Amino acid sequence: MSSLGKWLSNMSLLIRPLLSVGLLVIASMGVALPQDGGPAAGAPFYANTAEKIPSAAVLTALGRELFADPALSASGKIACAGCHDPKHAFGPANDSPVQRAGRNGRLSGVRAVPSLKYAQNIPPFTEHFVDDEGDDSVDQGPAGGRTWDGRAASLHEQARLPLFSPLEMANTDADAVVRKVRQGRYAAQFRAAFGAAIFDDAAAAFKGISMALEAYQQSSAEFYPYSSKYDAYLRREAALSEQELRGLAAFIDPGKGNCARCHPAAARNGALPQFTDFGFAAIGVPRNRRIPVNADPHYFDLGLCGPLRTDLRSRLEYCGMFRTPTLRNVALRPVFFHNGVMHSLRDAVRFYAERDTQPQKWYPRGGDGSLAKFDDLPAAYLANVDRQAPFDRQAGDVSALSDADIDDIVAFLRTLTDGYLATVPTPPPAPSGSVPGSGR
Ligand code: HEC
Ligand code: HEC
Repeated sequence: MSSLGKWLSNMSLLIRPLLSVGLLVIASMGVALPQDGGPAAGAPFYANTAEKIPSAAVLTALGRELFADPALSASGKIACAGCHDPKHAFGPANDSPVQRAGRNGRLSGVRAVPSLKYAQNIPPFTEHFVDDEGDDSVDQGPAGGRTWDGRAASLHEQARLPLFSPLEMANTDADAVVRKVRQGRYAAQFRAAFGAAIFDDAAAAFKGISMALEAYQQSSAEFYPYSSKYDAYLRREAALSEQELRGLAAFIDPGKGNCARCHPAAARNGALPQFTDFGFAAIGVPRNRRIPVNADPHYFDLGLCGPLRTDLRSRLEYCGMFRTPTLRNVALRPVFFHNGVMHSLRDAVRFYAERDTQPQKWYPRGGDGSLAKFDDLPAAYLANVDRQAPFDRQAGDVSALSDADIDDIVAFLRTLTDGYLATVPTPPPAPSGSVPGSGR
């Protein structure tokens, strides 16, 4: 790319987030989405059954209230924010692998809480993802969708899951949710937004609730501000330290971390990187015996092929695969991977280096003393585990990453935490040289 081209694409990096807020909300209104039944059945989900159409700003403000309100749960104890803490990039605030919630507030979940930031570009789930900005002849396999197994197609569908999941907010039906909002402290705000009669039609009111939660999660200032040090670096507004630069190089290098294979780190066509290709992979993280459901030795969370997801149960080649998460704000996480089995970022990175070269550090021994490598995956599915670099080695080989490389990558990953720009009023001089390496 010419330097003018680069400058132009960098300009559009700045503009893009501003444009997308309102557009996403409006765009989603025209799309026919799954039905909730009720008076509007047969019409597109966002067909306007309310008196008024609120502005994106009004919806966002309402959504922020709903998100933080524990009254929305059956137990009255847990808000969305109780699991998705805004101070932790909308991920978990404590180092428990799974959170407690449900009807009585005491049922344990089965998976780690994902961050809700930078989810705005996750495509709907497909089994045959073709990256339209890359080589469009390559079918990259399953990609997209919400949750660790992609089973919620859209943010809209996703909003229903926690509200009704017995392990999360445990409401029995939409009416129960509407009743709470009607009695809540923002009922007047809700009427002002959707019309005085909105609560007379429970189905329309529930749509309003879903729309507000969605609009809030699409607010760029809170959910995708692109305000990390690395973003500033890509925009030529900050310099990375020597160590951070070494970490970036090791992260991208196919002979070292090869991380960008699944967590792309380069700006492309004016868009800042998401640090996920939205694809699914089985990387074989160890079983987490601290998750209560894992007390049953026959229970396995196999991701794409079930048991939470049910439509791909016969696709055994997908067993063990989870959606590659973004690594933006990963340094704010107290637990890592779908089962929260790791508690430090350094361990999460070290796992990539040592899974194959020193598996005894990660997996337990079975009754007969042999190493139970990939102990969270039944033997029949071992062929699904990713074996490309950095996972292309044998026990006893030299790891793809040295201890120093691991430290460097951790230092680099810390540059992906939002809020850097706000804390550094005068950025250091822009680096020379080009925008670093590409993903796949
Ligand atoms: C008890 C904890 C808990 C509560 C409360 C909760 N969530 Fe979640 N949330 C989770 C977990 C765990 C997952 C991952 C589920 C999975 O992979 O099956 C998740 C996944 C999500 C996702 C998908 C993220 C992704 O990466 O695809 C969204 C969006 C979401 N939650 C929004 C919400 C909203 C909105 C609320 C409130 C209405 C809420 N959550 C309440 C625990 C919770
Ligand atoms: C084959 C694709 C692939 C490659 C290569 C890869 N990752 Fe991942 N990464 C994933 C997937 C899939 C997960 C989620 C796996 C799970 O939870 O079971 C993940 C999860 C993570 C997490 C935990 C994030 C969270 O929210 O819990 C970190 C940290 C991470 N990767 C860092 C790296 C680093 C550093 C490298 C290079 C050394 C790397 N990844 C290479 C696919 C990949």
